[in-house]
Parts: sequence; C-alpha cells; structure tokens
Amino acid sequence: MRVYRPESGRLVQREEPVPEPQRGEVLVRVRAVSLNYRDLLILDGDHFAGGAGALVPASDAAGEVVAVGDGVTRFAVGDRVINTFHPDWIAGRMPDTAVGYGNGQDGWLQEFRAVGEHALVALPDSLTFEQGATVPCAAVTAWTSLDRVGPGDVVLTLGTGGVSLFAVQLAKTRGARVVATTSSAAKAAKLARLGADTVIDYVATPEWGKAVLDATGGRGADRIVEVGGPGTFAQSLVAAGTHHAEIAVVGFVGRSGPPIDFMDLFRSGATVRKIWVGSREDTEDLLRWLTVWPVEPVIDSVHSFEDAGEAFRRFAGRENFGKVVITTA
Ligand SMILES: NC(=O)c1ccc[n+]([C@@H]2O[C@H](COP(=O)([O-])OP(=O)(O)OC[C@H]3O[C@@H](n4cnc5c(N)ncnc54)[C@H](OP(=O)(O)O)[C@@H]3O)[C@@H](O)[C@H]2O)c1
Repeated sequence: MRVYRPESGRLVQREEPVPEPQRGEVLVRVRAVSLNYRDLLILDGDHFAGGAGALVPASDAAGEVVAVGDGVTRFAVGDRVINTFHPDWIAGRMPDTAVGYGNGQDGWLQEFRAVGEHALVALPDSLTFEQGATVPCAAVTAWTSLDRVGPGDVVLTLGTGGVSLFAVQLAKTRGARVVATTSSAAKAAKLARLGADTVIDYVATPEWGKAVLDATGGRGADRIVEVGGPGTFAQSLVAAGTHHAEIAVVGFVGRSGPPIDFMDLFRSGATVRKIWVGSREDTEDLLRWLTVWPVEPVIDSVHSFEDAGEAFRRFAGRENFGKVVITTA
C-alpha cells in the first residue's frame, strides 16, 4: 500500500505491507483524509504534544471496512466509517492516556489502516467520504465548543479556519446569531453566504472586540469559539462584555499578541473552558444532530494521493477557504 511518512522535513511516499487486523481491530481502506492546523505544526516539530518523527501524518479520515479481526462486533465488511480524533476517549472525561494520530502513533495518510473497532464511528449515508473526513477534528471541536448554545445566543467565531467555519454553520443550526471575524472582503462575503449575520474585518478593525459590542447593542457575545489564542484572547475578552459569557479555548492560530489583563478577565465574568476536540460520544451526538440539521462541510479542494504535497502547501499558505482533503484515488 502507499503511505506517506516525514523524512528530513518533507513528506515522502513509500510502499509498505497492508496491515493485518488483530483481535478487536478492523482494517479500514482509507478513502479520504482532511488536513488540520495541527498536522502542519506536528510536521514542523512545533506542536506542544510532540513532533512527527517518522509517523504517518493526519488525524482525520473516512473509509470503508475491508476486513475484521476476531471478536469484532461493531462493524462488518463494507461499512462506511470515520475515525474518532482520540481513539481511546469513548465518553465522559478525556483519559490521561490519550495518544494523538500523527504524533503519538501513525495517522491516516495511508491507503489502509488497522485500528481498534472502538476508535471508529459509522459514517451516515448523507455524507460523502470527502465530507466525512472533515468531521473528526474540526467539526467535533466546533460542536463541543458550542455545547448548550441555544436560540438567540450570540456566537463569535474567529477567522475562517476549519473549526471556525463549522462553528458558523453549527451555530446557525442551533438558532444562534453569528458574529464572525476574517481578514479579507472576499472571505467576508463567503462567510455571509454561509450564514454569518455580522462579519468584522479584524485587520481593518484591530479593536474588533469593541466592534462585537457595538454589533450586539453593547452586550457582547454569549459564546466565543476562541481559535486565535495569544493573538486574539485580549480582544475576545472585550467581545465577551460583562454578562458572564463562555469562552471555548480552542487554539492559537494568532501566535502572539498583547498580554491578557487579569482585571479584564475578572470584570467580564466569563467562564473559560478548554476544548480537547471531543469524545466518541460527542462525535456520535454530532452525527445524529446532522441527520436532523444537515450541514454541508465547506471543502476548499480535493487532491489526489499523489498530490498530497500540494495539498499541504495550499493549506500552509492559507489560500484555502474550507477544508483541504486528500483522497486515496
Ligand atoms: N483544542 C482543540 O480541541 C482543538 C481542535 C481543533 C483545532 N485546534 C486549534 O484551533 C486552531 C484552529 O484550527 P483549524 O484547523 O481550524 O485552523 P486553520 O484551518 O489552519 O485556520 C486558519 C485560519 O485561521 C485564521 N486566523 C489566523 N490568524 C488569525 C487571527 N489573528 N485572528 C483570527 N483568525 C486568524 C485565518 O482566517 P482568515 O483567513 O479568515 O483570517 C486562517 O485562514 C489551531 O490553533 C488548532 O491547533 C484545537
């Protein structure tokens, strides 16, 4: 089978034997893989949870079951599946032992992968393999970030990365009003078409936290899907107002910025909740929600397996609006 592994800082395609599923495992023929910010950091050796070494990259895949090991009961040959982001987090609190794909064990940028049956969920017929591959990290993270958001709540999303676009779409299915930020007029127009009610250009308006207050009659956002970290958190605190909003701390794409003023946090009354993607139960809840409130994942481009290098370049260059997907075709 074809597989990609990092070698001296670049991805190299190799031939390796197709794995045999062991007891409790299924063999998945990978059909599509999607890229996430973490995949770039891991390859660059810049991820807080460790670098790639020679591990196969990518945390998110969709495919079909082509063989099952002894004792497998959840899946049969022919089933369409996606993986869960944390293979061993079924429900409840995240276990201390969670091991990531691509930096703790081989990821999914390969034609076949044997994996414990507990680490997969069924892919609904309503989603293609390419769409399914966008779910495990970005969509589930948006879903858990929006936990308990209800009609009339104001949700603030930052930028147009994978998590943020799903957050816009899922927030609308919950009846929320969406205020979104981005860095260009072209992306602002796309966000509006996706359902964002108010879009703020964070480059033209560096004090965008105040713009969120202005857009909400001075009240601010109820839920902030905070993907920018050091580069955005201070403004997010302004956007939170003082009415006990919740800030879902997701990421750090804005790599540096002003220090956070403790008194600003104190005055806001905001609850700060760290997100760790989500469990298998969260993934299943999301997929069930999508059968009632369908959302079409925004896919920027689909690349062939041979073209994986180009897919990584496009994603790293931030040329994309929506997920960058690689198929095994
Ligand atoms: N904690 C978790 O469970 C979890 C799960 C998933 C992801 N993450 C983290 O969340 C972050 C987003 O991941 P992703 O995969 O969605 O990223 P991504 O697709 O690579 O997002 C890239 C986008 O981020 C936006 N951006 C960059 N700097 C920004 C800034 N200063 N303000 C606002 N937006 C900015 C840009 O949007 P515009 O082009 O519109 O400006 C850019 O297109 C990453 O840090 C990732 O590691 C964490």
